[in-house]
Amino acid sequence: MIISPTAPAVVCLLSLGLSSAQEISDVWQTTWNRTSLFQFQNQSPVPTFTSKVASAISNIVVNEAKVYQPVLGFGGTFTDSSAQLLAGLKVAIFVDSTQHTANSLWYLDDELNELLVSPQLYVFASRRRPFCWPELPKNTPWCNRLFNGSYDEVDGDLCLNDLDVNSARPYIFEILKDIQSINNMLRVHLLPWSPPAWMKDSGTAFGGALQEEYLPMFAHYLLKSLEAFQSKGIKVYAISVQNEPMYETTTDPTTTYTPEIEGQVATLLKKLMIMKGFGDTKLIGFEQNWDQASGYATQLMKVAGGAFDGVAFHCAAGSVGQQDAFHAAFPEKEIYLTECSGTLGTDWWGDTKVWLDLFQCVNVTLTQEQWYMDNIFIGSIEHNAQTAMMWNLVLDASGNPMLPGATGCGTNGCRGIVTINGNGTWSVNQEFYSMAQASKGIIPRDIGGPSARRIGLAVQGTMSAALRVGAYVTYRTSSKDAPRYSLVVLNWNDNASSGWNPQPVTSTIEFRGKRATFTFPVGVTTLSWYAANITQLATREEDFLVGPMERDGHSIPSESGLKFLEFNPQSTVGQSEGGCSALQ
Ligand SMILES: *[C@@H]1O[C@H](CO)[C@@H](O)[C@H](O)[C@H]1NC(C)=O
Ligand SMILES: *[C@@H]1O[C@H](CO)[C@@H](O)[C@H](O)[C@H]1NC(C)=O
Ligand SMILES: *[C@@H]1O[C@H](CO)[C@@H](O)[C@H](O)[C@H]1NC(C)=O
Ligand SMILES: *[C@@H]1O[C@H](CO)[C@@H](O)[C@H](O)[C@H]1NC(C)=O
Ligand SMILES: *[C@@H]1O[C@H](CO)[C@@H](O)[C@H](O)[C@H]1NC(C)=O
Ligand SMILES: *[C@@H]1O[C@H](CO)[C@@H](O)[C@H](O)[C@H]1NC(C)=O
Repeated sequence: MIISPTAPAVVCLLSLGLSSAQEISDVWQTTWNRTSLFQFQNQSPVPTFTSKVASAISNIVVNEAKVYQPVLGFGGTFTDSSAQLLAGLKVAIFVDSTQHTANSLWYLDDELNELLVSPQLYVFASRRRPFCWPELPKNTPWCNRLFNGSYDEVDGDLCLNDLDVNSARPYIFEILKDIQSINNMLRVHLLPWSPPAWMKDSGTAFGGALQEEYLPMFAHYLLKSLEAFQSKGIKVYAISVQNEPMYETTTDPTTTYTPEIEGQVATLLKKLMIMKGFGDTKLIGFEQNWDQASGYATQLMKVAGGAFDGVAFHCAAGSVGQQDAFHAAFPEKEIYLTECSGTLGTDWWGDTKVWLDLFQCVNVTLTQEQWYMDNIFIGSIEHNAQTAMMWNLVLDASGNPMLPGATGCGTNGCRGIVTINGNGTWSVNQEFYSMAQASKGIIPRDIGGPSARRIGLAVQGTMSAALRVGAYVTYRTSSKDAPRYSLVVLNWNDNASSGWNPQPVTSTIEFRGKRATFTFPVGVTTLSWYAANITQLATREEDFLVGPMERDGHSIPSESGLKFLEFNPQSTVGQSEGGCSALQ
């Protein structure tokens, strides 16, 4: 197409929003007193970037020259409990609602449907536990696991012929498929809590370790689980070897691994995954608390770094800043924050609350909503995580369903991101609003388009401590479209520790040398603007754009340590004659 030299410039300026004043017109807010709950706020006048001076009280400086890790999204654990509640509701709606037919099964009404699965609003990120492998005792102190079997309960099934993911509740797959069908951003992350009991030295799912001679077998078991999910039409984004490999109890499915043994399973599994077409599926290690970032997590990378795409942390011990030590040692490895939970009965925002640490059963005094933003949805990303997730997507108002006699989350019970009651009513909790506010700043702008990335940020001024801020850019599929710049801002200037006096903070926001003014109420605000992509002009200090996330495939992990693990069906302990064609 031939066009005059002047016309296209005008078109470009308009379509890129290149007019010298970018406008902050997309603003979403949740206030401490819940008068706003993730609500769009019309701006009048619309805050505009001009040449005004920086506020001495608070000036948020956005530094797009620094581009950090991708931010994939936020989500929750799809436990058996969550699956059962969603499945029940699905049936209820299917029966009761004239608006839902067999061809359009929705779990909830249109509104929650949006909340849960719409890519416009909410990314279901990678944390899924659609199966709880082992048997569960009557008196588990843990939350909400209902399925009590592994995928292969046949003792000594050395060919894994009896591995059957249908032994998990079949609706788990139906629900995942339904969610996947309406949310193209769904990422499923599989995480076992124990190998089948017959592979362990304890002979039970509750504690003990994988017997070394079954190590190759268990790697095959994980591979076959991936294949089974694939055959069910579920795309698996990531798989881990073991939940909390340092934790052992006889009252809960647990398995201990040394970094060496976990690394050996992973090294063999990764090799199998590459051979069988799962080279793009992430293999994630560790899955325990922040306090071991320089301990177990680091050791695991030293012994088997070639096999792992990264590690996952939980929030129950240590502090989020410890993720940085791991990142500094292994900058090319991905970090996920995959577990944290709320407990029922804690206050929503303002009062100092007791946060019952579900894993250690200790009381931690925290202001919970603030804790979430400070440590999880702003904090973990600030400390290099690509995603942050909460334990239990859906529970009822009592933290059920659980096995009879179970006492999950202490006396209070766990709180899901969403509460669904027995009569089919539902509500979303503070976990949801924290997550929704954070998601709004990072959700891909284009369907199937690039993930957001964290960018550089500084908060200056006498009241800079009153704000906790994350800054992100979301590039576009088409170079004709302007990237979106977003801030997620917690104003926690409520004087909660010595009185109660929630005060707004008026701040300037500095971007490309210009500034806009915005008044943040106590609460969480997500705001966005668009500006032409000039990132290529900047020097990026830390550039993940050609990093692991963008890799097409994976190299074969190092063979070291694999020799004695080479799986030879003919020689496996107790193997019947003829070998296992299924495993070759
Ligand atoms: C596992 O669940 C089945 C029913 O689903 C039950 O018959 C069996 O006793 C349970 N096993 C344990 C160890 O709880
Ligand atoms: C946690 O603290 C509350 C309030 O002080 C107390 O009632 C409860 O028993 C404590 N729970 C545990 C498990 O220590
Ligand atoms: C549904 O159950 C919840 C929790 O028990 C209750 O608060 C609510 O009033 C019930 N709603 C209806 C319409 O029955
Ligand atoms: C924006 O700039 C970045 C950094 O140079 C580049 O990777 C990206 O492709 C650009 N996006 C568009 C849509 O031009
Ligand atoms: C915070 O609370 C303390 C104790 O009630 C009070 O003395 C102080 O003036 C309060 N500060 C603000 C800024 O409200
Ligand atoms: C709720 O809090 C916001 C922000 O602090 C404030 O502007 C608003 O007046 C409060 N509303 C009520 C009803 O207290």
